[in-house]
Amino acid sequence: MKTGIYGGTFNPPHIGHVKAAATAIASLGLDRLIVLPTGEPPHKQIPEGSPSGEQRLEMVKLAFSGLDRVLVSDLELRRGGPSYTCDTIRALREEYPEDELFLIMGTDMFATLDRWYNAGYILDEVCPAVLAREEDDMPELLEKAESFRRELREETVIIRSEVIEASSTAVREKVKTRGGRELVPPAVYAYIIRSRLYGARPDFDWLRTQAYAWLKPKRTAHVAGCEAEAVNLARRWGEDADDAREAAILHDITKKYELAEQLILCGKYGIITDNVEKREFKLLHAKTGAAVAESEFGVSERVRDAIQWHTTGKADMSLLEKIIYLADYIEPTRDFDGLTELRRLAYEDIDGALRLGLEMSVEDMKQRGITPHCRTQEAIDYLRQNG
Ligand SMILES: [Fe+2]
Ligand SMILES: [Fe+2]
Repeated sequence: MKTGIYGGTFNPPHIGHVKAAATAIASLGLDRLIVLPTGEPPHKQIPEGSPSGEQRLEMVKLAFSGLDRVLVSDLELRRGGPSYTCDTIRALREEYPEDELFLIMGTDMFATLDRWYNAGYILDEVCPAVLAREEDDMPELLEKAESFRRELREETVIIRSEVIEASSTAVREKVKTRGGRELVPPAVYAYIIRSRLYGARPDFDWLRTQAYAWLKPKRTAHVAGCEAEAVNLARRWGEDADDAREAAILHDITKKYELAEQLILCGKYGIITDNVEKREFKLLHAKTGAAVAESEFGVSERVRDAIQWHTTGKADMSLLEKIIYLADYIEPTRDFDGLTELRRLAYEDIDGALRLGLEMSVEDMKQRGITPHCRTQEAIDYLRQNG
């Protein structure tokens, strides 16, 4: 059997890594490729604030899940201490005593291979397989391979691989400013955003696509309208427009669920419900939506809270909470008596608009025979006392 060994910090794994693995499997005719996230690399520092080993392992599993014959191993992470390749090869040799082992590496690693710790042992056990990109210095590479052959009687395989402009450093930098999505497999991107690794902020197009997939199609226009209105209100009142956008995009994410599904989500996220919420279960989508936004999309506490209070309001709301409450109420697809006045007020006197909106909502519910939630009355009372 032919077994490839492909190690790296994978901080994070990107599309170049996946392409390299696929190319190695195909060109070497591997029966399996073992991918190992490094514990502590002996020759380079993992940058401070990087994800944990478990998180890198999880991302590697997601990144390579589409490739047959790949086995992801936590061998180096479990071993602890500096991850010397010779130790890994010794362990894999024990596991696969009969196999032909190939050590997959880039040209930069190959250049120093003969100086690695226990290089003699490594070269006795494995055949180096070098992924050479078009622009790599081929004569130098061949010269190195030739010297291995001459001095160590060691054959090197050179794999020509397509150039993919991706690096983990570029991903780490770009995700901070809502970029980098094209550099990582989709599941890895979702994981990075969910855990907000590397200070990541979501690409808004991606966030919309994700959020809209949770909605009934007819609600999309409302959510898009709410986003536009929330951004306008944020700009008017000096709130963070990006936070307003995130909260608005995600605010109705669990709206389509009926009582049974809402209660399942409440159980999953430890949400405590009261009697009014159980009776008027549509109210629950604010709490369950906030929980999903936090756990699936890694939103900040203030964004989560803005989603949580968008339906009932509450006493002493933050500016962002007021904005999301009002944007939901007055966005362009809405149509009801008194809307024009409420819209005007929202841009002139936000607390006045909030109070009017809450009062109108209570009145509307009473007319429809629905008991308003006590938090809504508390919100009105607070504004009356502090207005
Ligand atoms: Fe809602
Ligand atoms: Fe809404």
